[in-house]
Amino acid sequence: MKRVASLAGLSLVALAVQAQETCERTKVAVLGAGVAGVTAAKSLSDNGIDDFLLVEYQDRIGGRMHDVGFGSGPDGYPYVVEAGANWVQGTVTGDGPENPIYTLAKKNNITTLFTDQDNTTYFDESGPANYHDAIQEFQDALEKVTIDAGSLLKHNIQDRSFRAALRLQGWDPAKNDSHRQAAEWWLFDGEFAYTPGESSEIFTSVAENATFDYFSEENLFVFDQRGFATIIREEAAEFLVESDSRLRLSTQVKGVDYRKDSVTVHTNRGCIDADYAIMTFSVGVLQKGVVEFAPQLPSWKEDAIHSFELGTYTKIFMQFPQAFWDNAQYLIYADRETRGYYPEFQPLDLPGVLEGSGLMVATVVNDQSYRVEAQSFEETQAEVMEVLRSMYGPGIPDPTDLWYKRWTQTPWAYGSYSNWPPSTSLQAHQNLRANVGNLFFAGEATSQEFFGYLQGAYFEGKHVGETIADCLHGTGNCTVSDEQQKYPVLTGVTPYNLYNYEHGWFVDTIS
Ligand SMILES: Cc1cc2nc3c(=O)[nH]c(=O)nc-3n(C[C@H](O)[C@H](O)[C@H](O)COP(=O)(O)OP(=O)(O)OC[C@H]3O[C@@H](n4cnc5c(N)ncnc54)[C@H](O)[C@@H]3O)c2cc1C
Ligand SMILES: *[C@@H]1O[C@H](CO)[C@@H](O)[C@H](O)[C@H]1NC(C)=O
Ligand SMILES: *[C@@H]1O[C@H](CO)[C@@H](O)[C@H](O)[C@H]1NC(C)=O
Ligand SMILES: *[C@@H]1O[C@H](CO)[C@@H](O)[C@H](O)[C@H]1NC(C)=O
Ligand SMILES: *[C@@H]1O[C@H](CO)[C@@H](O)[C@H](O)[C@H]1NC(C)=O
Ligand SMILES: *[C@@H]1O[C@H](CO)[C@@H](O)[C@H](O)[C@H]1NC(C)=O
Repeated sequence: MKRVASLAGLSLVALAVQAQETCERTKVAVLGAGVAGVTAAKSLSDNGIDDFLLVEYQDRIGGRMHDVGFGSGPDGYPYVVEAGANWVQGTVTGDGPENPIYTLAKKNNITTLFTDQDNTTYFDESGPANYHDAIQEFQDALEKVTIDAGSLLKHNIQDRSFRAALRLQGWDPAKNDSHRQAAEWWLFDGEFAYTPGESSEIFTSVAENATFDYFSEENLFVFDQRGFATIIREEAAEFLVESDSRLRLSTQVKGVDYRKDSVTVHTNRGCIDADYAIMTFSVGVLQKGVVEFAPQLPSWKEDAIHSFELGTYTKIFMQFPQAFWDNAQYLIYADRETRGYYPEFQPLDLPGVLEGSGLMVATVVNDQSYRVEAQSFEETQAEVMEVLRSMYGPGIPDPTDLWYKRWTQTPWAYGSYSNWPPSTSLQAHQNLRANVGNLFFAGEATSQEFFGYLQGAYFEGKHVGETIADCLHGTGNCTVSDEQQKYPVLTGVTPYNLYNYEHGWFVDTIS
């Protein structure tokens, strides 16, 4: 409907011209040049398919890997900071499986700091505080929940909220217990960008296990001055030559017509006829309806798009005249009134990190992100400084610079990364992954086990690229155009035997 409405202002002649416009031809239109899109295009190229177009809204590659300049460095140049993805999460254990993002980080010599969560100083509104016990109690409950979740999954038992699961394990902090609320925020919301009440017991545990057990517990914080997205720019450089005409930056997809054997993509710069298309836009972009699908998406696909959530993680960058903080990787603050009110600070000016930079990051998520992103930098600065002064006393200076990306309002993302709500089955999530005709879907959100993470986008992009290459070669698993499993009728719990390769269940996390 939207595309028709936007054409209404044009003359009939213009409309006639538009209708007869001949579209550019390609075999595969890859929509979006984030991790999933670039990885899909690379796997097409690796599998002998070079006839593709990579269509991207922004004037750069990387998507939600988003390095930006901030503040001023020693030679007057800004520092490079990460407004989007910042950690390699899960690396490798011994000679076990290796996170492909870690592989790429090593390949490109990405500079990182090993995250040590024990290297934390705790505060509340009256200054330094000690709530190690609360942290320990929460960690114990978390571990018990992931084990319980494995048992629910394996025995086909109904999912429930992570909140309910925690309560069953004896973790039930009072609303006014700000120390326990802060511990819970830090170890849960600070990772998933939603509260335990808004998150699935089973699938949050799956994600925990897949990243932090299957790979490793290790998190590496990237502060490389070339930017974290170097890893994906370098991947692209392996198959794109300089000013490659297959890369279409600053091109907005507005509509996709899909059929059993072809796809037409409508952009602000014309149209593309392709045998296949790969849609990698965030679930937030799909929910907002900025892309008009023709025919309308089937109801099982619409249901899936609206059943999953996109969380927001907002990093508030500040530069101070000098460091005034503890030599600690994290400063955690428990607000007496409001859970999640400026709960996390990360000094970046630390020995061996961005030493001498005066940089610090404050993080908020979820409801606080919506609030903070809707107000001015000045308003936010006043709030942050009130908190920091309750921690470090009235004498600390104001920042010389403060900036954050407003993810909730960004038209090519509308949020940060996806979350799996309670009581939504593997089959429902498979419906988010599944193709409609020759239009395929990939991205962090379609990953059954690594949703939310860079590795999720990577695995899904690679898989869909390989699948389509197979289809184009007429080999492999492509026998019919509706290759991927879908569930027009959802029946509740997904039977354990469907946790298999065809459903995107690539690694085994249950014991
Ligand atoms: C603040 C933040 C912190 C994060 N922290 C981490 C972390 O520490 N570790 C981690 O592993 N993951 C983290 N993530 C998640 C990680 O960044 C994502 O999982 C991953 O980058 C998603 O890749 P993708 O290819 O699926 O989607 P995207 O990167 O969103 O790629 C989709 C592309 O499509 C483009 N697009 C959208 N709409 C249109 C349109 N209409 N027309 C044309 N193009 C369009 C977009 O511009 C984008 O480039 C974080 C994300 C954010 C935002
Ligand atoms: C990474 O660093 C090592 C040692 O410092 C160097 O030998 C290598 O060439 C570097 N590789 C890249 C891709 O920069
Ligand atoms: C998570 O890992 C634990 C420990 O290995 C295991 O007992 C549990 O079944 C796993 N849970 C899920 C949901 O994968
Ligand atoms: C929380 O509230 C209860 C009463 O509802 C009170 O007994 C308790 O002392 C309060 N705890 C804190 C930490 O303020
Ligand atoms: C905390 O991290 C900083 C920065 O890496 C380091 O200098 C410091 O020694 C660490 N402190 C402890 C107690 O490990
Ligand atoms: C085809 O599917 C099977 C599982 O049914 C999988 O093991 C195999 O790797 C797939 N082959 C390709 C080429 O994707």
